[in-house]
Amino acid sequence: MFNSKIASFAKCVPENIVTNNDLEKLVDTSDEWIFSRTGIKERRISVSENTSEICAGAAKKAIDAAKLMPEEVELIITATISGDYYIPSVSCIVQKIIGAKNAMAFDINAACSGFIFALSAADKFIKTGTFKNALVIGGEVLSKFVDWDDRGTCVLFGDGAGACVIKRGNGRGIIAEDLHSDGEKGESLMSSYIPVDNPFCESTEETFKFIKMGGREIFNFATRKVPASINEVIKKSALSFDDIKYIVPHQANSRIVEIIAKKLKLPMNKFFMNMDKYGNTSGASIPIALSEMSEKGLIKENDKIIVTGFGGGLTWGSALIEL
Ligand code: COA
Repeated sequence: MFNSKIASFAKCVPENIVTNNDLEKLVDTSDEWIFSRTGIKERRISVSENTSEICAGAAKKAIDAAKLMPEEVELIITATISGDYYIPSVSCIVQKIIGAKNAMAFDINAACSGFIFALSAADKFIKTGTFKNALVIGGEVLSKFVDWDDRGTCVLFGDGAGACVIKRGNGRGIIAEDLHSDGEKGESLMSSYIPVDNPFCESTEETFKFIKMGGREIFNFATRKVPASINEVIKKSALSFDDIKYIVPHQANSRIVEIIAKKLKLPMNKFFMNMDKYGNTSGASIPIALSEMSEKGLIKENDKIIVTGFGGGLTWGSALIEL
């Protein structure tokens, strides 16, 4: 087995800012309602770039910061549920844009837990010696799948991408992880049903494109599963919360984070939050947060952090990482 080390973080978000006040003009809502229930003030909404383009933007910055040439990149994994096409994958398009012509590239669909699942897979490719480096991306243009007439969902989501490079090195990478799925509850968060449709069937099924969500169900699921998952990685690592510099949760809702903190009896300043600026960017939210923390000097080499996420599938999980 080899050791792994995260070498860089980067992000790329669309320039267009849509505030809560802007949404008041689209649906019957208010800045007060949105902010008090979610902690979101504004989000980035793409007006031209598709998912692969913003993912490539984050990827280029991450490989530059890790001092890698594009042709040295050996693996690209993108966590996304809003790719440009079914085929090719976002990772393959990113490979083309950045010129990583020697990489193996594929996507992971695990919704808002996607970045953690992707990082977990990449860490294993490095630790088993299959590859010496990997580019892990989380990127979404969720605005394509948002029903802009549905005030219950359109106020929540945003577009953006974040990336990191993980390399063979003298660190520990992921020290402990706790990853789960529960397909039984998949219907509480769905988008884009594609029915069977061919000349040999009489398809009567209705298709739908936009995100459908049981908000309360997801809220209860997240506040139940995430604290248990964070406790599990602490237990598996044999570390204590005092050893952890930050917990970086999926940026869905500040109230969810407050309940998680309360259940774990931890102060809110142990948790990083930036959903006020970006909304819920699904698989991109954790790498965008990590990139911003790195830019602000909040995290540095050798720090131990916990990333934790939950979302469609249903999926959830945590990873305790040494930077
Ligand atoms: N503006 C104003 N009112 C709104 C609104 C909006 N944007 N969205 C919903 N409402 C209304 C509802 O219609 C409802 O009105 P009614 O009582 O007259 O029927 C009322 O507000 C309460 O709705 P409810 O859905 O019960 O609100 P809530 O307190 O559960 O908050 C969420 C809604 C979506 C903010 C909350 O459930 C949540 O954050 N869930 C988790 C979602 C999530 O994180 N999803 C992503 C997972 S990765």
